[in-house]
Amino acid sequence: MHDGSEQNVPPVVVPPGSYPRFADRHIGPDHSARKAMLATLGHDSLRSLTDAAVPALIADRSLDLPLALDEPAVLAALRALGRANRPVPSMIGLGFHPAVMPGVIQRNVLENPAWYTAYTPYQPEISQGRLEALLNFQTMITDLTGLAVAGASLLDEPTAAAEAMQIALRRARGGRRVYLVDADTLPQTIAVVATRAEALGATVHLVDLSDGPSGGDGLAAVPAELLDAAFGLLVSYPGPSGALREHREVFARARERGLLVTVAADLLALTLLRSPGELGADIAVGSTQRFGLPLSFGGPHAGYLAVRSGLERTLPGRLVGVSIDAAGDPAYRLTLQTREQHIRREKATSNICTAQVLPAVLASMYAVYHGPQGLAGIARRVHGLAVRLAEGLRVGGVTLGDSSFFDTVIAAAPGRAGEVVAAALEHGVNIRLVDDDHVGISCNETTVEADLRAVWAAFGVPPAAAAEVTAQAELDGPIPTTTAVALPTELVRTDRYLEHPVFHEHRSETAMLRYLRRLSDLDLALDRGMIPLGSCTMKLNATTEMAAVTWPEFADIHPYAPLDQAAGYLTLIRDLEEWLARITGYAGVSVQPNAGSQGELAGLLAIRAYHRDHTPAGAPVRDVCLIPSSAHGTNAASAAMAGMRVVVVACDADGNVDLDDLARAARTHTEVLAALMVTYPSTHGVYEEGIGQACALVHEAGGLVYVDGANLNALVGLAKPGQFGADVSHLNLHKTFCIPHGGGGPGVGPVAVGEKLLPYLPNHPLRAEAGPATGVGPISGSPWGSAGILMIPWAYIQMMGADGLREATSVAVLNANYIAHRLRPHYPVLYSGRGGLVAHECILDLRPLTRATGVTVDDVAKRLIDYGFHAPTMSFPVAGTLMVEPTESEDLGEIDRFCDAMTAIRAEADKVGDGTWPLEDNPLRNAPHTAAMVTADEWAHPYPRSVAAYPVATLRTGKYWPPVRRIDGAYGDRNLMCTCPPVASFAEPVDEPATLATVG
Ligand SMILES: Cc1ncc(COP(=O)(O)O)c(C=O)c1O
Repeated sequence: MHDGSEQNVPPVVVPPGSYPRFADRHIGPDHSARKAMLATLGHDSLRSLTDAAVPALIADRSLDLPLALDEPAVLAALRALGRANRPVPSMIGLGFHPAVMPGVIQRNVLENPAWYTAYTPYQPEISQGRLEALLNFQTMITDLTGLAVAGASLLDEPTAAAEAMQIALRRARGGRRVYLVDADTLPQTIAVVATRAEALGATVHLVDLSDGPSGGDGLAAVPAELLDAAFGLLVSYPGPSGALREHREVFARARERGLLVTVAADLLALTLLRSPGELGADIAVGSTQRFGLPLSFGGPHAGYLAVRSGLERTLPGRLVGVSIDAAGDPAYRLTLQTREQHIRREKATSNICTAQVLPAVLASMYAVYHGPQGLAGIARRVHGLAVRLAEGLRVGGVTLGDSSFFDTVIAAAPGRAGEVVAAALEHGVNIRLVDDDHVGISCNETTVEADLRAVWAAFGVPPAAAAEVTAQAELDGPIPTTTAVALPTELVRTDRYLEHPVFHEHRSETAMLRYLRRLSDLDLALDRGMIPLGSCTMKLNATTEMAAVTWPEFADIHPYAPLDQAAGYLTLIRDLEEWLARITGYAGVSVQPNAGSQGELAGLLAIRAYHRDHTPAGAPVRDVCLIPSSAHGTNAASAAMAGMRVVVVACDADGNVDLDDLARAARTHTEVLAALMVTYPSTHGVYEEGIGQACALVHEAGGLVYVDGANLNALVGLAKPGQFGADVSHLNLHKTFCIPHGGGGPGVGPVAVGEKLLPYLPNHPLRAEAGPATGVGPISGSPWGSAGILMIPWAYIQMMGADGLREATSVAVLNANYIAHRLRPHYPVLYSGRGGLVAHECILDLRPLTRATGVTVDDVAKRLIDYGFHAPTMSFPVAGTLMVEPTESEDLGEIDRFCDAMTAIRAEADKVGDGTWPLEDNPLRNAPHTAAMVTADEWAHPYPRSVAAYPVATLRTGKYWPPVRRIDGAYGDRNLMCTCPPVASFAEPVDEPATLATVG
C-alpha cells in the first residue's frame, strides 16, 4: 500500500473537478510547514521521525482500510445509509420516547461548535457558560426529583441505577449483599445493575411490589431472610408496565430496615406526579432523553442521579457548584474535586470521567425554553393521549392492565400479541411486544391523533367506537377532570418547581437565542483556539463528520425498533467495528461502552470472565490487577468496580514502567494475577521500549494485558496494541476519532479484544445481535451504546483512509516534538524516549520554575487564558507539570502562537524571580484578568494594564475576555451550593462569604 506519510512526496494530485483531499483539511501543518518543522528536529521526513520515535519491535505500518472518500462522497454514503433506516413513529417506550428538540436549541447548541467542541470544565474561568447550563440541569433535576443535590449528568439511566446500587453497597453494613429490584423495571436497567452487582459480589433479587394494594407495604411478601440480607431497593416510577403505584409505605419500611431506596423516575411524569423525595426516596435516577433529545438508536442521552441531603459526598461523576472568584463575585466551578479518580483511584466513588454534558445541556435548555408550565403542558397532553388511547381500546373490548398510568398502557391480545404488533406497523406505528399475550403502547410528545387510530385499528377496534372517543376528546386542553384522568389522586403533584427566573425568562425565541449566545460567548472552546490538553486529543471535529447526527433518518430510530428499520445503522456499526479492529490489530470490537471508563470496565470484566472459565477448580481466583503509578485514575477505579484488587507498579526515573518492579509484582502474585493495565504510549507521553517485555512478563505469570487506548492518536497506522502483546483495549472515539468532547461528553469507548476474549464482549438482554450469548452482560443501557454519534468516527475513517490516518498520527508526533523542541530552553521536558523524542504529547516540568520564582503551575495555566489559550493538562500524571498535546489538527501558526505565549510567560515568571514584581502581585498571580478589572478606575498593580490585557500585540485584534477572575475552589467546597443561586447574589458584590446560601 502506498504510504502517504512519506515526506518530500509531492501533495496528492487531485483530479480536476474533484473535491480537495479531506486529510489536507484535517491536518493543520501543510507540506511546507511540515518540512520546516522537521528540519528543526533534524529529520527530513515524517517517516524518518516516526521510525526514530516508535520502537522497531512494535512498529507496524500496515493498515487495511477502504480508500479515502472526499467530503461530498462521504455525505452521499451517509445519506445512503440513512435511507436504509426507516423511521417509524414509535410508541415502544421502554425508557425511550420520541421528543421534539426546539429548533433554536438544535441549531445554537447541538450544531454549534462553541458548545460541542468545548472540553470538560476543569478550567472554570473559561467555562462559565457551560457551567451555568449544567447548574440549570442540576436545578432542574433537584426540583423535579425533590431531592437535595443532583450531579451534572451520568451516562444513561441504567448506569445511573448501577451507580446508585454502588452507593448503597458501599454503605452496606453486616455483609449485606442483596439488592432488591422492583420487577417492573426496565429490562436493560435490571441487566446493567446485575452485571455491576455480580462483579462486586452482590446479587440482584427481583421483587413484585404490585402484590399488595397501592399504598400498602409491598415488601411484606418478601421473605425476612432476604430483607435482612438486602442493602438497597430500586423501584421504578413508573416502570415498563406504565402502572403508577403509591410506594410511600414501602420506602418507609425499607429505610427502617436500613435499605437505601432508589427510585428510577420518568422526568416528564414528575412534572405531574409527586416527587421521589416527597415519597421518601434516598436517591432518584433516570434519563433526560425525553427532554428534547432524539432517540438516535439508543443514545447519547444524559442520565441523572440525585440524592437526599447527607449523601452528596457519595455522588458519582461531576458536580457543579457555586464559589467565588478573586474579586468575591459568584462564579461556577466543579465542586468536591477531591472525588476525582486521579486522587482517590481505586477508592473513588465511581470510574465516571467523561459523562454526557452536551445532552445534559440540551435537556436543561429544553426546560429553560418551556418552563414549568410548558413542561407540565406537554406532560398533560401526553397523559391525555394515553387516557384516550386506553378509553378507545376499552370501548373496543380490549382488556387493559393497571388503571393508573402516565403515558403507557398494557393491552391484552391473548395469543396474538405478535399479530397486533405487526398490524400496528402496517398502520404506521411501532408498539411493543410484551409477551405472547400482551402489547405495550406509550404516548409521547410527538404522538398525534393518527397514531392512536393506528393502534385502535391494529386491535380491530370498530371505527365507530374509536370515533366516539375522538369526538369527546379535548386533545390540547388541561388534564381532563375525573373520569379521564388515570393519575392516582394521592400521587398528583402539588408543590411548585423550576421557580428560578432562568426557567421563566426565555419564552420567546429571541430571548432564548440571546441566552444561548451569551452563555457560549463566556466560554473558550476549540472554535476559538487550540486546546493543548495532554491525554485528551482535542483535534478537529469536522463539520462533515457531524452532519448526519441530526438527520431524521438516524435521529428518529428507536433502539428497540425492528432491526430491519435500522439496517443503515447496523451496516455503519459493522463497518466501524471492523475498521477499529483492523486499526488496533484486535479480533473484535464492541461499540457498546459509552465512555472510556465503561470500555475499561467492559475489558476488565472480560478478563475476569476469561479467568473464571480457565482457572482450574480449586485454584485461587485471579483478581490482582497491576497498574503503574502513572496510570489515569479511571484505571484503578474500573479495576475496583470489576472486583479486582489493585497493586501499584512503580515507574523508573525516566517515567517508564519499572520492569524489575513489574517482574517482582508478577512473581509475588503469580497465582492470583489477573491483569496488567497499562497506557500506551504512556501517560508520560513516551513510546516505552519495554512494552513487549512487560506484556511477556505478565503472560508468563498467567495474567492478561489491558492496554488503555486513550493515547491511540500516537499509534494509528504506526503500531497495533492487539499485535504487540495486549489482549484488550478500550478506545476513546471522542479523542482519536473526532467525536467532539461536548464540554464533558458524550463519548464512546469501544472495547477491542483479541481472539480469546471474544466470547466475553458485552451483550444485551433485548438484542441478541449486540454481543455474544456468552458475554459479560450489558455495560450500557443501549445495545450499541451511543449509536447516534457513530457516524462521526465512521465519516472520519472513511474520509482519511489508511494513508490519511497514518499521516495524521505522524503529524501529531511532529507537532508534539516541535513544541517540546521550542519550549525545552524555557521549561524542561520531563520525559522523552529514543533519540530524545516524545510521542504525541510532552510534559513540561514547571517544578524548577516554581522553586526558583514561586510561580506555580496554576499561575501559568491561568495566565495562558490572558493569552487566549486553554491551559494544558495540569499536574497529571506528575504534580507540578503541564502536559501538552497539540494534535495533528493545529497548524504551525497556532502552535507558534502557543509557544510564543509560553515563552513570554516564562519571561514574566523570571521578573517575579528577580524581584521586579512581587510574588503576590504580578500578571501571573492575578491571572486571568477580566475586562472589569483592567478597566476599573483604580489600578494599583506594579505592571501596566496593557501587560495585563495585551501581553502580545496580536491580542489587540482579537481577545477572549474571561468573565470571572481566578476562582477560589476551596470556598465552594466548604460552602456547597449546587443549584442556581438566587439572582440577587449576582446583583451585588459578595463581600461576606456568608451571604451565599449553602445547600446540603
Ligand atoms: C489515559 C486515559 N484513560 C482513560 C480515560 C477515561 O476515558 P473517559 O473520559 O472517556 O471515561 C482517560 C480520559 O481522559 C484517559 O486519559
